[in-house]
Amino acid sequence: MSGPVVTYRRDGNVGVITANNPPVNALGHAVREGLLTALAQAEADPAAEAIVIACAGRTFFAGADITEFGKPPKHPILGEVLARLENNAKPVIAALHGTALGGGFEVALACHYRVAVDSAQVGLPEVSLGIIPGAGGTQRLPRLVGVAAALDVIIGGNRLTAGQAMEMGAVDAVVSEPLVDAAVAFAADLVRGGKGPRPTRDAAVTSGADDIAAARQQHARRYRGFNAPFRAIDAVEEALSLPFDDGLKHERALFEACNATVEARALQYAFFAQRQAAKVKDIPKETPARPIEHAAVIGGGTMGRGIAMVFADAGIPVSLLEVSPDARDAALAAIGKTYDGMVARNRVARDVADARLAAIAGATDYADLAGADLVVEAVFEEMAVKKKVIATLDSVVAADAIVATNTSYLDVNEIAAASKHPERVLGMHFFSPANVMKLLEVVRADRTSNTALATVMPLAKRLGKIPVVSGVCHGFIGNRMLQVYQREANRLLQEGASITQIDKAIYDFGLPMGPFAVRDLAGIDVGWRMRKAFGIGRSQDARYSRVADMLCEQGQFGQKSGIGFYLYKDGRTATGENPLVADLAAAEADEVGIAPRDIADTEIVDRCVYAMINEGAHLLDEGIAQRPSDIDIVWLNGYGFPAYRGGPMFYADTVGVPAVLDALARFQKAHGAVWAAAPLLERVAREGMTLADLNT
Ligand code: 3HC
Ligand code: NAI
Repeated sequence: MSGPVVTYRRDGNVGVITANNPPVNALGHAVREGLLTALAQAEADPAAEAIVIACAGRTFFAGADITEFGKPPKHPILGEVLARLENNAKPVIAALHGTALGGGFEVALACHYRVAVDSAQVGLPEVSLGIIPGAGGTQRLPRLVGVAAALDVIIGGNRLTAGQAMEMGAVDAVVSEPLVDAAVAFAADLVRGGKGPRPTRDAAVTSGADDIAAARQQHARRYRGFNAPFRAIDAVEEALSLPFDDGLKHERALFEACNATVEARALQYAFFAQRQAAKVKDIPKETPARPIEHAAVIGGGTMGRGIAMVFADAGIPVSLLEVSPDARDAALAAIGKTYDGMVARNRVARDVADARLAAIAGATDYADLAGADLVVEAVFEEMAVKKKVIATLDSVVAADAIVATNTSYLDVNEIAAASKHPERVLGMHFFSPANVMKLLEVVRADRTSNTALATVMPLAKRLGKIPVVSGVCHGFIGNRMLQVYQREANRLLQEGASITQIDKAIYDFGLPMGPFAVRDLAGIDVGWRMRKAFGIGRSQDARYSRVADMLCEQGQFGQKSGIGFYLYKDGRTATGENPLVADLAAAEADEVGIAPRDIADTEIVDRCVYAMINEGAHLLDEGIAQRPSDIDIVWLNGYGFPAYRGGPMFYADTVGVPAVLDALARFQKAHGAVWAAAPLLERVAREGMTLADLNT
């Protein structure tokens, strides 16, 4: 980068400090130093009667530089810069655009006045990085907007629009572009009106003890297992009782303590891992993407409906093709109902929902898809049906249109071969509900072109998804690992653990539900049908558990039939175990010659999680996953792996790969060859590396 990171100039009687640290003006050391230097210039400039702080580029400071968090703090730390701003003898005005987040918003809070363009957003996302605001956010925001509103921003992690921030009292004026001119005019007006500095620290926090207690209670469930959100509440609570400077000191101490936790390391790792996952290793950065202006979805069932909404929500008109007018109308009606529900829950405004629905055009004729730049098929999970759809598209859409399959388990190479243009075919494996779940596995088939990938990866971001590339294999990254996790849960059941014990052990480890409860929720029949289609059973695995299959044979599919592994009332609330499960498991144990035993919760967790880690390492060995952190992103965003543990591969590093290998060896001795360690794990241990070392 050329030129100084922070510059000072004067506009009339207003000094203007501008930072320029692309891409997001993170408040790294050079910026903090630059700000102090520029402030000194502004203070010393006799003609400057007020000071504007602004940023060049796409955003006001988007926060501290997260890459500095693992290193010793370098002075000046942000708090020192902010004290200089707040204690300034001249009025200081922040000019906000883009996303003023974390330390960026804290800069603004330490200024005496804040103006913002309409499109600006502010927020304090620190708890999502395992830390708390560390530069006065927990002390200044409650002084400006009250405790309840401050807690919503700090713990809820919500970003506020400029308008919302102004309504709350965190922004003084929403101004028009050009922003800096408007901020300078605002500053000149202040000077003309004789208005001087207005330090936030001088405002009183009047009340809020009830809000503190309410926040602790309200967030207990959402943040089960997390530390930082509760330390942030502690810090806000101190704003109520402590003088400002003491509150700041306590906040800093809590910030540092949080930053030293595994949770902070895990969440900060995941922040960068998510951005890394969007990059495909062997595709040149400059590979052009194909423009996508119109999309089409084939099949308007559970997935197709959600996928059509994904495009509509992103402002991309989409056609949804079904087999008959009735099926088409049913799909559109169901989508309309989903939008109505979102309006009722205040998730989206009525007019926005109506516009999105209007962007989805029902179709029964392939000719209506002719203009589509991208087609996603979500028809039945049957190879013959999928192949026919893919082949039909050859004579419908442009030769360079992208064609994606949402298959869960079928061979994408075989699907692609049905097209005359296999290079344009890839998998876009959405998760259910597609319009809610963030994860998108992008399946790269043998002949998928660079253009197809270079189109779909950034498109995923435009669709609000988190894309991860997977090679072709049964179940791709996520479901392949899920299968070994479920295999171990089944085996533990055979060996004498109850489904209640297994589910509780996994829940206590931090997943939102245990393996059996999840299967009841999703429908046990989904896996049953898949296993039947693929002929999966005792022939591959002598200890294959038939319990789920036998439940399905009796129509016991889980929540939707009121009975599965558990019994349900009102379709959702489990009232206890289905007694058949323990009986079937005991009979099966007898059949395969296993004597029941007491099993510790730690063994349950280790077996389920280490099986996943080993499978993840196999996926890396086979080149299915690009890097360990991609696997973590899949598990964090698709399966509810506890974010404070960073994902299975990060967790392996926290346990230590040699310790994981020891456990694998023990399990192999007791339970057979499925536990043979992946060569990659052995190499990592042998070379004294961590899995994280393979990410770079
Ligand atoms: N520190 C270091 N790098 C950062 C960064 C940060 N705060 N924010 C973004 N980056 C990097 C990204 O890693 C990415 O790098 P890459 O191109 O090499 O992959 C690049 O900047 C662009 O980021 P995005 O791809 O995310 O760009 P978007 O335009 O999609 O999003 C954003 C921009 C909304 C600002 C998003 O980057 C973001 O949410 N950043 C983090 C904001 C944040 O959490 N701030 C708080 C930090 S903690 C803090 O301030 C502590 C304080 O209280 C002391
Ligand atoms: P579904 O059975 O709910 O819907 C399939 C729809 O496709 C039906 O409405 C059917 O009428 C329509 N259809 C069938 N043949 C068609 C054709 N030739 N042309 C147009 N429409 C046709 O199935 P679901 O659950 O939506 O699954 C669809 C695909 O998505 C499958 O490949 C499945 O494996 C995959 N998937 C499913 C997930 C889930 O949780 N349900 C998750 C991720 C992927």
